[in-house]
Amino acid sequence: MTRRTFALSIPILTEAALAQRAAVQGPFPKDTAWLNANENPEGPPKVALEAMIKVLPEAGRYHYQEYREFYAAVAQSEGMEPRQLLVGAGSSEVLQAAVHAFTGPTRPLIQMSPTYEAVAAVTEALSRKVVRVPLTTGYYADVRKLAEAADREGGGMIYICNPNNPTGAVTPKQDIQWLIENLPNNTIALIDEAYIHFAETPQMESAFKYIKDDKNVIVTRSYSKIYGMAGLRAGAAYGRPDLIERMAPFRNNVISIVAVRALLATIPDASSIIGDRKTRYNKIRKDLCTWFESKGLAYIDSHTNFVMVDVNRDVRSMLPKMVAKGVAVGRPFPPLDTMMRVSIGTAADMDKFRNAFWEVYSS
Ligand SMILES: Cc1ncc(COP(=O)(O)O)c(C=O)c1O
Repeated sequence: MTRRTFALSIPILTEAALAQRAAVQGPFPKDTAWLNANENPEGPPKVALEAMIKVLPEAGRYHYQEYREFYAAVAQSEGMEPRQLLVGAGSSEVLQAAVHAFTGPTRPLIQMSPTYEAVAAVTEALSRKVVRVPLTTGYYADVRKLAEAADREGGGMIYICNPNNPTGAVTPKQDIQWLIENLPNNTIALIDEAYIHFAETPQMESAFKYIKDDKNVIVTRSYSKIYGMAGLRAGAAYGRPDLIERMAPFRNNVISIVAVRALLATIPDASSIIGDRKTRYNKIRKDLCTWFESKGLAYIDSHTNFVMVDVNRDVRSMLPKMVAKGVAVGRPFPPLDTMMRVSIGTAADMDKFRNAFWEVYSS
């Protein structure tokens, strides 16, 4: 096995795989409310469902000839050029490609902690160093400390999840700007914007603008969250063409034609679909937070489709009891051991959550 094939064979840990590591392994009751992986209970938009049903009988072919147009449509939907885009099977695949391309034996990953663990998991699987920098007291990235760490290491890849999973906090736009303007030598910033579509605060600003300025920045986006296509596996990375070229060899192949057609059908209506979903799920999240307040429970202000609530004990003691009541919530995120991450589902899912949570919490 060559070094290259060895590297390519390391699978990224998806949210689902990470959930497997959670304190609870099941069995899960049949009608479990899945509030553990920040999915969208609404699933793919209707136009996408229709397009997928139509293409299924033609799925015997690769359809390679359609991808150029597909990439052009995706890039254009974000105001980018195709050479600034890399599409993958979920953002997981392009995040993994960034690890392969921009970390190395002497170039560590530098990341906030806690954050989405999959990027560090791949880096460590490659026997490369991960430097973890605690979050600010506002639960977002401490950009100055991240830059200091990268400088000390002689460069590497700084990973920022914005808004952050699991805390839901936004790293303010001035901080991102400071980081990009002060990136140490030999350093790439990887900004994961999987949850950006839910954010309403003026502090949230996409790092897309730095790509247009040709900075050392890669931005990833996911179709698994607000788009409701987690099981279809589609995501994208955007960056300067030379950086995208360095990542491309580590991508597997094209994504499924089923996902392609779903996206092509959705893109023209994306802003109204996203707008509707954002309003609906942010309201459900705010209602949940009002309920937490009525119960005297502290929570972290979230700008995503999940929220962390302080359960005043090790959260591990509550997780199996919640599952027994048909509610699966997020895995533990040390060192935030007393915090439970709950994804926002339908209003009915959240009623079920409130009932199960309160029974378990107060028993
Ligand atoms: C912050 C973040 N980035 C990336 C992903 C990977 O998602 P996907 O591969 O489905 O796009 C997730 C999944 O939950 C996530 O929370």
